[in-house]
This record gives sequence, C-alpha cells and structure tokens, in this order.
Amino acid sequence: MTIDRKDLPEYSKAQLALRNGQDKPAIWVAYLGLIYDVSKSRLWKNGMHYEHWAGQDLTHELADAPHSQSVFQRFDVVGRLV
Ligand code: HEM
Repeated sequence: MTIDRKDLPEYSKAQLALRNGQDKPAIWVAYLGLIYDVSKSRLWKNGMHYEHWAGQDLTHELADAPHSQSVFQRFDVVGRLV
C-alpha cells in the first residue's frame, strides 16, 4: 500500500532543522518535499554526509552527489516539508 502524501505529518523548516543530528538524536533530510529519517545510516553519523548537513532540504544538492535519489529507498518517510 502506498502512503498518501496528505496523510503524512507536516514539519516546517525550523522543525526539520532540529533533526540535524546535533540537537536531537533524530537525523532527517528533506528531498522533493518529503522528509526521510536517515538516523540508521552510518553514512549520516552526527548528521553529516560528505560536507552536507542533515536537518535541511537537500533537493538541489543531490545534483552534486555521485549517486541518484535511489539512495533514499531504504529509509522511511516521516513527514512532509511545508
Ligand atoms: C558531494 C556530495 C555527496 C557525496 C560525495 C556522496 C556520497 C555518497 C556515497 C559514497 C554513498 C554510498 C552509497 C552509494 O553511493 O550509493 C552515499 C549514500 C547516500 N547519500 Fe550521498 N553523497 C553526496 C551527497 C548527498 C546528498 C546531497 C544527499 C541528499 C540529498 C545524499 C544522500 C544520501 C543517502 C540518503 C545515502 C544512503 C545512505 C545509506 O544507505 O546508509 N548524498 N552518498
């Protein structure tokens, strides 16, 4: 079953910023309007990933990455960035 985007909890940029891996244990990243919980990734330890920080919308930064958006597949969507 696919999740209807409208059913997801909504978070503001300020709320997302608190999940940067520094202020709270949660490590979240927004991509194309959806917020992913990447806390379980050893590549996002303390919220840092190859000079990129969690707790932000990194949609535009993906262009700099050596990988596609398929890297998000194994992570849960926890909300919608509004
Ligand atoms: C200079 C920029 C970046 C570099 C060098 C980099 C490098 C990597 C590498 C080497 C991996 C390992 C697996 C793979 O290649 O598929 C990875 C995974 C990943 N990257 Fe990046 N990345 C960059 C930017 C980004 C950005 C901007 C995002 C978010 C929009 C992102 C999100 C992820 C995610 C979610 C994973 C999966 C982690 C896991 O499975 O544990 N990366 N990245």
